[in-house]
Amino acid sequence: MTDEERNSLKENLVEEVLNSGVPEHVAMIMDGNGRWAKDRGFTRIRGHQAGARNVKRLVQLADDLGIRHITLYAFSIENWARPWLEVSALMRLILAYIIRERNELHKKGVRFRFLGRISELSPRIIEEAQRSTELMAKNTGITLNLCINYGGRSEIVDAIKKIIIVGIPPEKITEEIISQYLYVPDLPDPDLIIRTSGEMRISNFLLWQCAYSELVISAKYWPDFDEIEFLKSLRVFQLRERRFGKTSEQIISSEG
Ligand code: FPP
Repeated sequence: MTDEERNSLKENLVEEVLNSGVPEHVAMIMDGNGRWAKDRGFTRIRGHQAGARNVKRLVQLADDLGIRHITLYAFSIENWARPWLEVSALMRLILAYIIRERNELHKKGVRFRFLGRISELSPRIIEEAQRSTELMAKNTGITLNLCINYGGRSEIVDAIKKIIIVGIPPEKITEEIISQYLYVPDLPDPDLIIRTSGEMRISNFLLWQCAYSELVISAKYWPDFDEIEFLKSLRVFQLRERRFGKTSEQIISSEG
């Protein structure tokens, strides 16, 4: 495809997406960096570097489309089990991203938040994450939620601990209360979760919040998951019927 053809395809897809109801919250499992690198004879770390470069353009596009929240699974609790060289490269990439993008994201009105057991990260990451969160706290553009040292089960465990510590009695515990004690209490549930690289697993991601999320799996590896692939995934989502446990007929009559 020529650049001109790609631009025209992108423009058409943007128009279709904008005309069909943009999701409020899109979450992404950025998978396939290692295989992308292996296919090219590169180290896995180069795959992650290419993956990090891809983050910037998709956050920008999500913002341009008017998506309100984007959540990225950058490092899971389980990822600590990877070779130390890879873990430290990932931590360096995440730290570099937080520092490098701060001013530009702030100028664009982005809000930055972090989900995960952040206190277990290096003091430098904690400090820079806090600096970004505070700097951008009052911004009203898209919220970028970065999951680092994140696990869906740990998030629920941590919420239960907080509920016990503040002394909420069992009869007062509701789904709303649990939501309020998650890492980011006012985060709406994701409408759409995209996973790249063809894997069909949720991998401990947003377990509480994903109850009624639509899943779209892209065969592309994350570094190749470009703007056109993102727009196509949004179109797949828009063509789904979300029923939330109701019947198709009920949904149609409520829309009419
Ligand atoms: C999964 O691919 C990807 C990760 C564990 C890390 C995701 C990190 C990035 C995209 C870069 C850093 C992020 C930011 C926000 C700057 P994999 O390594 O499991 O790939 P594989 O399954 O092909 O081996």
